[in-house]
Amino acid sequence: MRAVDIIQKKKEGKTHTKEEINFLIKGLMDGTVEDYQMSSWLMAVCFQGLNEDETAYMTEAFVNSGEILDFSDISNTVADKHSTGGVGDKVTIVLIPLLAALGVKCAKLSGRGLGYTGGTVDKLESIPNFKCQLEDNNFKNQIKTIGAAISAQTPNLTPADGKIYALRDVTATVDNKSLICASVVSKKIASGANIVVLDVKYGAGAFIKTKEEARELADLMIKTGAKLNRKFEAVISSMEQPLGTHIGNSLEIIESIEFLKGSYNEDLYDIVLEIAGHTLILANLAKDFNEAKNLIDEAIKSGSALQKLKEIIKAQGGNPDCIEDCSLFNVGKNKFEIKSKSDGYISKLDALNIAKACKLLGAGRDKKSDDIDFGAGCILNKKIGDKVQKDDILCTLYWNNVEQTRLNEAVKYTEDAFEYSNLKPEIQPVVYK
Ligand code: URA
Repeated sequence: MRAVDIIQKKKEGKTHTKEEINFLIKGLMDGTVEDYQMSSWLMAVCFQGLNEDETAYMTEAFVNSGEILDFSDISNTVADKHSTGGVGDKVTIVLIPLLAALGVKCAKLSGRGLGYTGGTVDKLESIPNFKCQLEDNNFKNQIKTIGAAISAQTPNLTPADGKIYALRDVTATVDNKSLICASVVSKKIASGANIVVLDVKYGAGAFIKTKEEARELADLMIKTGAKLNRKFEAVISSMEQPLGTHIGNSLEIIESIEFLKGSYNEDLYDIVLEIAGHTLILANLAKDFNEAKNLIDEAIKSGSALQKLKEIIKAQGGNPDCIEDCSLFNVGKNKFEIKSKSDGYISKLDALNIAKACKLLGAGRDKKSDDIDFGAGCILNKKIGDKVQKDDILCTLYWNNVEQTRLNEAVKYTEDAFEYSNLKPEIQPVVYK
């Protein structure tokens, strides 16, 4: 078998055997398939697609590239969640400590930024000294002792997805349903959790643009999980405008801390409630959604969820003082305010434009080897449906070190993200299904 023949086959729209997919993934791991060959095959997949069987073969090959964690000696209910990617999506950072504070053991495997979307690992690494690269034993021990751990992939956990994820990020091969499915589902199988809620996002700032496609992706992930003997739940949610108010690595951690202190934006609260609520019911800790909501509100009000975040930060080597002292974060020393061009209501706030602006300011990578600026990003003052007057501040951009041309482009993307109307627009709920 030769990689070049497999690439040619997919380029011609033909169907792969399980052996061919295994050959590619194993080859990538042992160095006999080069990154550029894998990138070329990924692009062929974006044009020609994978069928359900090929998607399941790829998912299985990812899982088999590492180990599957087993928590049966700790608890028979271990939870995990995963988002298909969004802008300002800091749900994990709020949800995991919240669930752990309520007694749900959480084993969370996360990724770095992908395409225009941010990644939990990058966000957490903006906490001074925080380590996401946990050895399997430490990951497990931490779940046993404090109830939750958030780790990046390790050489033992879906390393094939780790390699392909980094290639997809910089080769415009992210937005394919089968590639997203294999990436997400393999990580959720390897993490060993038995309660998994998937957050499938659609809209301008998501890889999947419409509700219908999000539904198809959710179905594909659930079917792929079932073919590999795992049961998943999925929530479909909107990513038309950024989630919450802060976008960018440090800024999103700051917003998450504020959330757990009880000060939050409605859309972020709604999606956290939906996912946490389902998880609590599946874990038999709440009999219905009302009871789950009361538990969640109490964990925020009492400070127990915030305390759990502090414990996670401390256990993973980070400085827990950042919970009280935001000045410990790198927040861009330069800022620029974007002002309203008109009186009226905000009728559109394009998440993709905001993501592009943040990436230009340094919050994401152009190349695999790029460093990111944890301090780059944007804080929104206004969201869809808010009333504005001309020259009101709509948002503020933050950065540390950016060339003038990139900055000008970022400002233009941000200004163009906002549209105005005379009448108050109808506000779509963030949770669709
Ligand atoms: N999150 C992942 O882990 N993989 C994807 O492909 C998209 C979102």
